[in-house]
Amino acid sequence: MSLLAVEDIHTYYGEAHILQGVSLTVAEGEVVTLIGRNGAGKTTTLRSIMGLARPRRGHVRLRGEDLTPLGTHEIARRGIAWIPEERRVLPNLTVLENLRLGMLGASARNGDAEVLEEVFDYFPRLRERIEHRGRFLSGGEQQMLAIARGMVSRPSVMLVDEPTEGLAPLLVQNLTEILAAINRRGTTILLVEQTLEVALALSHRLYVMDQGRIQFEGTPDALRRDPTVQQRFLEI
Ligand SMILES: Nc1ncnc2c1ncn2[C@@H]1O[C@H](COP(=O)(O)OP(=O)(O)OP(=O)(O)O)[C@@H](O)[C@H]1O
Ligand SMILES: [Mg+2]
Repeated sequence: MSLLAVEDIHTYYGEAHILQGVSLTVAEGEVVTLIGRNGAGKTTTLRSIMGLARPRRGHVRLRGEDLTPLGTHEIARRGIAWIPEERRVLPNLTVLENLRLGMLGASARNGDAEVLEEVFDYFPRLRERIEHRGRFLSGGEQQMLAIARGMVSRPSVMLVDEPTEGLAPLLVQNLTEILAAINRRGTTILLVEQTLEVALALSHRLYVMDQGRIQFEGTPDALRRDPTVQQRFLEI
């Protein structure tokens, strides 16, 4: 059984029919990437999983349990962490305070110190800046903090929306390696990523999305070998 399953969801903003029957699965231990042009519906898919946009039809299941009747808070408590595009680091709180906020509402309250150590092993830069307030962090550091804040709840699945957007190439590479390491240590990831190279490097499987529908599903190798899909749905 899939850990996470999105089953034929239709999501609207007002009368605009944005997701037109989106289905995807994420198995335990996978990195699955959703890729596609601006406006394809990637963020709306993640928002639908979190209950922030309510599908009018279809279901989202975690280990078989239907999440669609639940509120966002309940969905998060089931073990799904959402790291939005806008990063949303709290500017007046320190790095440590931001991380402690991520721990609130986590199902396991034990081992707080341990999980912080683990996070700082991935992000040594955050350890150095532990007492700095969010607003004094660079864009890259804010992104690291946003991911770290998702990790401290020890989620079953992390939904990460365009983590490399706007970062310098060296940071993109650094973050790609960190996400791969987080996955190797057991965290399942559903990623939205616009940079094809990053997506191909990180993913076990990818879904290409266009105009609210899934247009391709397959391995990185299969996508590499498919110039038609790349041209139709990924090039500008
Ligand atoms: N709050 C909203 N109200 C109305 N329409 C919206 C809203 N948010 C997004 N849309 C529209 O829904 C469609 C899908 O948007 P979505 O944000 O899911 O795309 P995306 O694939 O994440 O794009 P990007 O790569 O730019 O982040 C777009 O046509 C967008 O204009
Ligand atoms: Mg988006």
